[in-house]
Amino acid sequence: MNKRSDDRVIIFDTTLRDGEQAPGCSMTLREKLRVASALRDLNVDVIEAGFAAASPGDFESVQAIASEIKGPTICSLARCHPDDIAKAAAAVKGAEKSRIHVFVATSEIHRNLKLQMAKEEIIRRAVESVRLAREHCDDVEFSAEDASRTEFGYLAEVVQAVIEAGARTINIPDTVGYTVPAEFAEMFSYLKNNVPDVDKIVLSVHCHDDLGMAVANSLAAVTAGARQVECTINGIGERAGNCSLEEVVMALKTRENFFGIGTNIDTTRLYPTSRLVASVTGMHVPRNKAVVGENAFAHEAGIHQHGMLKDASTYEIMKPEDVGLSRSNLVLGKHSGRHAFRERVAQLGFSLDDEELNRAFDDFKELADRKKELFDGDIEAIIMNVGDTTPGPWHIEELLISAGSASIASAAVKLCHADGRQANEAAVGDGPVEAAFKAIERCVGFNMKLRNFEVRSVTMGEDAQGEVTVTVEYNGHSYRGNGVSTDIVEAGALAYLEVINRVVRRRESGTDERVAPDDKGAAVI
Ligand code: KIV
Ligand code: ZN
Repeated sequence: MNKRSDDRVIIFDTTLRDGEQAPGCSMTLREKLRVASALRDLNVDVIEAGFAAASPGDFESVQAIASEIKGPTICSLARCHPDDIAKAAAAVKGAEKSRIHVFVATSEIHRNLKLQMAKEEIIRRAVESVRLAREHCDDVEFSAEDASRTEFGYLAEVVQAVIEAGARTINIPDTVGYTVPAEFAEMFSYLKNNVPDVDKIVLSVHCHDDLGMAVANSLAAVTAGARQVECTINGIGERAGNCSLEEVVMALKTRENFFGIGTNIDTTRLYPTSRLVASVTGMHVPRNKAVVGENAFAHEAGIHQHGMLKDASTYEIMKPEDVGLSRSNLVLGKHSGRHAFRERVAQLGFSLDDEELNRAFDDFKELADRKKELFDGDIEAIIMNVGDTTPGPWHIEELLISAGSASIASAAVKLCHADGRQANEAAVGDGPVEAAFKAIERCVGFNMKLRNFEVRSVTMGEDAQGEVTVTVEYNGHSYRGNGVSTDIVEAGALAYLEVINRVVRRRESGTDERVAPDDKGAAVI
């Protein structure tokens, strides 16, 4: 392909909308703001901050991101309903650059079985909605949901109609992850050749990964003229997920000789952003995940190692530093100073302000007292927790556990509140984790239901830290908590207490830190 100097692929990130909509990926407002800041630092062009009409919580988070995050365009999704459009418009109003993204399904299956609307009615609804959105905002995107299963001719008619109504970007989604690269490229070529005003707008692609082809399909669309790719960090999203941002961006960069086009993404921020999203969603990245997986740059086979020692290009098509992964897993210990720590944090691609760095360094010193060697994973785990600027009000002062194969597990806990209150309780349980959770609940007078408990090792070795993620139900709402410690019972207790602190903070400040119910998007779309 020939490259034009102004030609590039716009990266539209929908981690906070399509990604967040996936089961288990819901985020609190503070978490969304953290992710949005990381997306800004990554230099994405558009952040789809949410679906403002889905719930008051979604409205609030789109509004907060619109007013706080400067740089990228901030976008809200809306169905082709006046109410949705009004809410989307109000939510993105404070943004430096705003966009309203309206959608309606166009495929025969959706027309007949979901919408029960005729072809002409759908075009009319789409046109009215784009016009209405344009009254609020110059930048309007239209999506033809389930486009990949829509008749080519009808899709071209819809696209021409919404261009005339004022849409600037037209998105062609493979909503159900059904298409294949050659077929999808054909669809984009057809639109390029059969929609009279196609050159006035940006054609966009949005793929789901049900058959594992979301990235390949998105790239095929780019070769056929798409100039916006909608994607998510780590590929999180509905069902099997969305097109993964890091994979599509690195494919364009690594194979620029083939695609002849790039993006504005600062690829050195890919790895830290991936870690942040994994940490806040509790959706961990598989070791063998392309680009950001732990093994993505690990060479185990002797013959590969031999080649690598001679010249890294023998087996490495991307440099780890290009994606923000530092090559050496340098070990720090209790004698490492603030300067070495600061350097390592920067090498790992994280930027902390002075206050955050000081807090992270205190946590590092505390951990170094318990653990001989600290690896990159340990430092990352510290950094992930340091962004939480309003910890507490409760913290664990003491946790005593007694457990064995022939005895009932018991736990004694002492909690302290920021206002000076203390609470001591003990409990027994089927295992040490249950005993600790019960004792904590008694201290604060809560009765919660543990729905999910996941533990993973942050690094390797006998003294590796364990990271526990819990999902807990309380008063009909779902909350997630995270804890990291060299002792997994303590990590679990910290995760459980994080949930309690979220509930308490919500009561005290009136802000919503719930994890929204997993099916909220599915229910509305
Ligand atoms: O997958 C899809 O079709 C969507 C649209 C709302 C863009 O997410
Ligand atoms: Zn989608």
